[in-house]
Amino acid sequence: MPDLADPITIGQLRVRNRAVMPPMVRNLATDEGFVTPELIEHYAARSRGGVGLIIVEAAAIDWAHGIMKRNIGIHDDRVIPGLSALAEGIKKYGARAFIQINHAGPKSHIATRYVGPSAVPVMKGKVPEVLTVDEIEDIKGKFVNAARRAQEAGFDGVEIHGAHFYLLSAFLSSYTNHRNDDYGGPIEKRAKLAVDVIKAIRRELRSFPLIFRMNGIENVVNGITIDQAVKIARIIEHAGVDALHISCVVDAINNPGIPSIFDEKTMPAFLRGYPYDCCIPCASKIKSEVKIPVIGVGMVRDAKFARRVIKRNLCDLLGIGRALLADPEFVQKTLDKRDDEIVPWKD
Ligand SMILES: Cc1cc2nc3c(=O)[nH]c(=O)nc-3n(C[C@H](O)[C@H](O)[C@H](O)COP(=O)(O)O)c2cc1C
Repeated sequence: MPDLADPITIGQLRVRNRAVMPPMVRNLATDEGFVTPELIEHYAARSRGGVGLIIVEAAAIDWAHGIMKRNIGIHDDRVIPGLSALAEGIKKYGARAFIQINHAGPKSHIATRYVGPSAVPVMKGKVPEVLTVDEIEDIKGKFVNAARRAQEAGFDGVEIHGAHFYLLSAFLSSYTNHRNDDYGGPIEKRAKLAVDVIKAIRRELRSFPLIFRMNGIENVVNGITIDQAVKIARIIEHAGVDALHISCVVDAINNPGIPSIFDEKTMPAFLRGYPYDCCIPCASKIKSEVKIPVIGVGMVRDAKFARRVIKRNLCDLLGIGRALLADPEFVQKTLDKRDDEIVPWKD
């Protein structure tokens, strides 16, 4: 039976246990996207607190297309020294350091120009401009440069953000992608941008570890179903990533521009949240269909539940988000069975 305390490898990289801090934007960078001492301490505290793998929050590969103000930037070589200090601050306490690289596409809160695969908004009233093939080529190069900067800064790997209706996710979803060129239509074509990005990074950076984050399900009319997600996961695995990180979009409240299939009353139990949160069942299904490690995540709120998810082999690694914001030592206390000492997250 696997245990949360067991080490695991991602590509060739050994991780000391199965607990992951998933990316969570903190708005602690400078207005120009440079790393600050508060950011370093925020992540160092979770590394000291026993986490095996820290995935630093979404970093903007193109400063004009970040998620929101005070995002971390990974768009320019001038940010590399700050990123280096961040990677070092994490690694010195034993966690592996990854950083999520992202183009916010149609879901940027700061862009003056929303862009996407098609003119389908994911935020109320914000109709994206349709990207041309030349612009798509340019974006691939920006992902590669961002991954190179992460490597130069000393990160152990990157997570490519393909979830939550940001740019790569908007290409993957049949809800947002209505293109009829090489980048739209059947799943293989909708996945082309993600696959091209993965292959381009591989060509440039060889065995540098790569994780891909994707939606395991979308509570959206004509969005990704779990069966489609399995097909996407296989395509992404085949493209050459070392692990998958399965998230989902189920929350109609945080995505008011999107027509949901279920509202809070009609949502089936497995989509509804603790202890059934959908992302872990989706990760579990995908884990049974691929060979690479799968990270599950979603509503882990207590130590017993965290240990049980791994013991039941529902996923290979477990993301613990808000619980780690509430208590930086959540993981060490969970591994030591000091459950009563955990400071709980309050929704
Ligand atoms: C404040 C906050 C910021 C987040 N930022 C990101 C992000 O930068 N990238 C991302 O992929 N997910 C982001 N997420 C989603 C988390 O990675 C995670 O999937 C989610 O919080 C569910 O896990 P939890 O229930 O353990 O918190 C964010 C979540 C929160 C609460």
